[in-house]
Amino acid sequence: MTSPGVAGPADAPDNSMTFAALNAVHAGAKPLHSAAATLGLGVPVEHTHRTIIEPFRIRAVEPLGITTRAEREVALERASFNPFALHADEVLIDLLTDSGTGAMSAAQWAAIMIGDESYAGSRSFYRLESVVRELTGIRHVIPTHQGRAAEHILFSALLKPGNVVPANAHFDTTRANVEFLGAIAVDLLRDEAMDPQADLPFKGDVDVVKLREVLVRERGNVPCVMVTITNNRGGGQPVSMGNLKAVRALCDEFGVPMFLDAARFAENSWLIKMREPGQGARTATEIAHETFRLADGFTISAKKDGLVNIGGLLGINNDALADLCRTRLILTEGFPTYGGLAGRDLEALAQGLKEVLDEDYLHYRHASVRYVFDRLDAMGVPMMRPPGGHAVYLDGGAFAAHLPKSQFPGLSLTNALYLEGGVRGVEVGSLMFGKPATGTEPEEFATLELVRLTFPRRTYTQSHMDYLVEVVAHVWENRASLPGYRIVEQRPVLRAFTAKMAPIA
Ligand code: F0G
Repeated sequence: MTSPGVAGPADAPDNSMTFAALNAVHAGAKPLHSAAATLGLGVPVEHTHRTIIEPFRIRAVEPLGITTRAEREVALERASFNPFALHADEVLIDLLTDSGTGAMSAAQWAAIMIGDESYAGSRSFYRLESVVRELTGIRHVIPTHQGRAAEHILFSALLKPGNVVPANAHFDTTRANVEFLGAIAVDLLRDEAMDPQADLPFKGDVDVVKLREVLVRERGNVPCVMVTITNNRGGGQPVSMGNLKAVRALCDEFGVPMFLDAARFAENSWLIKMREPGQGARTATEIAHETFRLADGFTISAKKDGLVNIGGLLGINNDALADLCRTRLILTEGFPTYGGLAGRDLEALAQGLKEVLDEDYLHYRHASVRYVFDRLDAMGVPMMRPPGGHAVYLDGGAFAAHLPKSQFPGLSLTNALYLEGGVRGVEVGSLMFGKPATGTEPEEFATLELVRLTFPRRTYTQSHMDYLVEVVAHVWENRASLPGYRIVEQRPVLRAFTAKMAPIA
């Protein structure tokens, strides 16, 4: 089941394999764990072990909230059957998001202690600026408190009502910020990317035929093209280097700047290395360098591949645009050398951006997602294929095939995972993306009823993942009993976060 275009066996799942063995087959990857032996001729031989290990040891621990099923039943009812309303202490394995939920390294905590809290000209800012410039080659580096602030500042300087912003797929906050300014966000994924079963290596790619059509039709009305790496909306699917170059060429042809939503740039770089023919011998750092150098700027939520709990970045090459953005930054975030963050946050981010490109880390990171995917796949559990960079997406519609969309099969699965094992995932289906009926319009539903199990970085170990697999398997075996849910109370926007739900008897 190797996908077309996938280089070698790197991504071909072999369900008998462990974490370790998966790593061992990764083409071009160095062995994680090796011992030099010497043959009689004095030639060193590398011995590769099968077990993939977390490439860190743990010096600070955080107890998990271990609860009984009876306690979870009470908690979920109190939360009106919406896992967003659970107290985190009531959750055992929290896979709600990978955003700001990862563990910092000892070096990051040490960097925190030398943060310079000067209001203007902080040493920590200049350190971060130099790390980001080296990584991206982009001239102006503007810190923000998180990704959506960078998006808002960029778009408020760049967009006018009626403008069109094409992307492979806008993340929710990016789309919301575009639409808030009266502009139109257009998603241009290839059609196959919408099929959860299509096992293609780069389902995050922009459909360049569709992009050309938009650039021709909207000539003069497109202030920028956005490329989200990886595509979070579609399962953390990567964008290939070939596609990034093709988008760059189109942007040049039409004189439109290309921006990256680079929240998961390191994971995208790793998946390019693993999956794109001709890229396997390069380092993730080299690939990341090239990726950023194709763009005119970026927005980044540093809560993902920045390996920090809070932070964001806006990067811009154009001097006049950067100037405008800095003026807006002062209005809403703070002075340009701290932009809504403490000096210590800038230090931790500068360190995190270096650590995230460590190949032992990236290797383990992707292997852990792949490990869960392959074990569930072997049991026939329906999921979005192939596994992306940061999450496994269960197909709630297929789990609860007996439920109509109006009874929220994705939420039903999410709640069952919590009740069964204290695992918190997140519904990305009709509760998240559907719309209630209005006086004139009928209720709207999402195309797919997915449940995202998102992996915080450097936080859980393999035994947590084994436990997760066991919980999902149990719910899969008992899927016929998944109950439907109805909405008791909802807000007109972003209803998934606050809706009150009830099971249908
Ligand atoms: N872009 C992408 C691709 C994201 O995944 C996110 C956040 C943002 C932008 C916004 O960044 O949260 O720092 O303001 N994604 C989180 C998630 C919320 O759970 O996937 P932010």
